[in-house]
Amino acid sequence: MERLIDKTLEDYARAHITALPEALAEIEHYTHTHRPDAAMLSGPVEAALLRLLVMLCPARRVLEIGLFTGYSALAMASALPADGEVLSCEKDPEAIAIAQQFFDRTPCGRKIRIRAGLALDTLEALRGQVFDLIFLDADKESYPVYYDRALPLLRPGGLFVADNTLWSGRVLAPSTPADLGVAAFNRKVRNDPGMDAVLLTIRDGVTVARKKTACA
Ligand SMILES: C[S@@+](CC[C@H](N)C(=O)[O-])C[C@H]1O[C@@H](n2cnc3c(N)ncnc32)[C@H](O)[C@@H]1O
Repeated sequence: MERLIDKTLEDYARAHITALPEALAEIEHYTHTHRPDAAMLSGPVEAALLRLLVMLCPARRVLEIGLFTGYSALAMASALPADGEVLSCEKDPEAIAIAQQFFDRTPCGRKIRIRAGLALDTLEALRGQVFDLIFLDADKESYPVYYDRALPLLRPGGLFVADNTLWSGRVLAPSTPADLGVAAFNRKVRNDPGMDAVLLTIRDGVTVARKKTACA
């Protein structure tokens, strides 16, 4: 991921968020020392944003599409009430094993249930269920399909949050399937009359969209 804002400013922002649960720093350290694809991890500023969104929603049931080593799932779980849950989709068994090992060691990890396999299959199996917040952070070429399949699971007034929606700036001249997927997703959200949305220029871009209720 290319850096969109100056590193000094990014570090400054990182130093000015509310302290995060210790387990997140452990996952971050482990991922950076054991996984060549560690750049996929969302990081502390986004974790702080996700925690706030969970609290403001307020959310009890969260659906995550793209668990990786469990960083964002644990961040969201730590902001949920005691009876809250995060259901997270992941296809990589190695990433699942790492995440589960961290979840087992921390009390709020008990709020997370991993759904192994392809996320589209899981979404199909979840038909009829209702979530307060959906966090999309999986393969970028499928972002528009995830939007179509996951949105019916979001309650009115719920939040649809998507990571990497600036996609290192490649949304400006999309060429690969991933670029085209993110650009199409951004258009879809922008043109959806059922949503109120903002594309935040945090990190690699984070879209936050609220599903309208009957009265707005
Ligand atoms: C960007 S990472 C998620 C990062 C994580 N949310 C975090 O903040 O640490 C994307 C994850 O989505 C998973 N993924 C990609 N395509 C998938 C699919 N079709 N079904 C399930 N998981 C998928 C990848 O294996 C990867 O672990």
